[in-house]
Amino acid sequence: MKPQTPPKTYRVKSFGCQMNVYDGERMGELLDGQGLTPAPEGEDADLVVLNTCHIREKAAEKIYSDIGRLTKGKTQKKAPMIAVAGCVAQAEGEEIMSRAPAVSMVVGPQAYHRLPDMLDKAVKGERATDTDMPAIAKFDSLPARKRRQPTAFLTVQEGCDKFCTYCVVPYTRGAEISRPYNHLIAEARKLIEAGAKEITLLGQNVNAWSGEDDKGRAVGLAGLIRSLATLDGLERIRYTTSHPNDMEDDLIAAHGEVDKLMPYLHLPVQSGSDRVLKAMNRAHTAESYLKLLERFRSARPDIALSGDFIVGFPGETEGEFEETLSLIDEVRYAAAFSFKYSPRPGTPAATMNGQIAPEVMDDRLQRLQARIARDQFAFNKATVGKTCSVLIERKGKHPGQWLGKSPWLQSVWFEGDVQLGDIVEARIAEAGPNSLGGELLQPVTA
Ligand code: SAH
Ligand code: SF4
Ligand code: F3S
Repeated sequence: MKPQTPPKTYRVKSFGCQMNVYDGERMGELLDGQGLTPAPEGEDADLVVLNTCHIREKAAEKIYSDIGRLTKGKTQKKAPMIAVAGCVAQAEGEEIMSRAPAVSMVVGPQAYHRLPDMLDKAVKGERATDTDMPAIAKFDSLPARKRRQPTAFLTVQEGCDKFCTYCVVPYTRGAEISRPYNHLIAEARKLIEAGAKEITLLGQNVNAWSGEDDKGRAVGLAGLIRSLATLDGLERIRYTTSHPNDMEDDLIAAHGEVDKLMPYLHLPVQSGSDRVLKAMNRAHTAESYLKLLERFRSARPDIALSGDFIVGFPGETEGEFEETLSLIDEVRYAAAFSFKYSPRPGTPAATMNGQIAPEVMDDRLQRLQARIARDQFAFNKATVGKTCSVLIERKGKHPGQWLGKSPWLQSVWFEGDVQLGDIVEARIAEAGPNSLGGELLQPVTA
């Protein structure tokens, strides 16, 4: 590769889960520290970081078309310096380097704190790959937070030891690690100082977080949440994604006791069939999952439930799929994400017998999504007439129009004289399938 002009502007494009969004923000902050500035919307960037996702085949293949568009001048007029980060970088670093000569840097999700060094090399014309997994080093060597937004993500836990047979995450993100309590409290304070009213704690298995509090006591996620709730200026706490097998009693109790903890639980189940769950290595049954949800509902009756589903796992019969539909009928989710099974290289399920035909998967996905849509709309309709707090997250298209979030994570549109980051009291006037219309009552906190 030829030496390249040092880039002045950058753009980070994050795909995949919220942990990638968090990582993308942190990479941006690192590049800011190197004197680069974010490229303004609609203008060419000198450096483009593709922060990729490997979870399904479509997501993983996307980077090659993105690189193609960037180098052929279709995305921007001038071809930028390209870095590939995220989970595809981790899983297929070498392949990317050989398949895409236009890529200067490949950096895995645990190594991006080394991006500044790699950038120096790239400028000299040396291509660099770093997919090391040095436990927690990344967080220690990141700059301070300064993001000005009413909502913020905070990664508290990374990696996964569960090895569900379909999933790449244990390979791309490594073993489960928890960031230390005091680092998290310090980072939360910085986010609050910068204007965050709501913090969402992130982890592939966020409820596996464990640590020692400031008094040296062993605490789990609930303990961390209880400590964060004492911080002035922070009004809302959320967490995602949890695993049914790591659920501690105290986290369930916290939903009934900690006002700042929002009434929302994302708890993926994947399937309603015990045979399929076993083949997925989920180590829970449909019944144990349902019992767990009941306990959350007893602690916090208005809790909104959400989940993830995979249709067409190898060997899934029509009857087993219908067990998933029955589970959905029983839970009545407020929201959910559903996916067609995608065989991932190196995972046990990819070579299992009984791979399901695409048209069968399409049909099952459609039927499943129709039920979820039905329940989501019903959940939205049930909030009509209620009064609730809304955190203002962004401006709408029309003057005076705003978009905020209800405690149950629904989008609420309304008009009024408010500001970004306000938490206002609103009455829900109407419900659509994906959002609510609200009437402003009065600002409660500014
Ligand atoms: N750690 C979380 C989420 C991980 S990935 C959990 O265990 O719930 C997010 C979702 O992607 C998963 O919940 C699953 O529904 C889906 N997913 C993961 N691997 C997949 C695959 N190979 N094909 C289709 N969907 C997949
Ligand atoms: Fe993947 Fe399962 Fe781990 Fe979730 S728990 S990240 S689905 S292996
Ligand atoms: Fe995708 Fe990696 Fe997240 S594979 S879902 S970006 S952990």
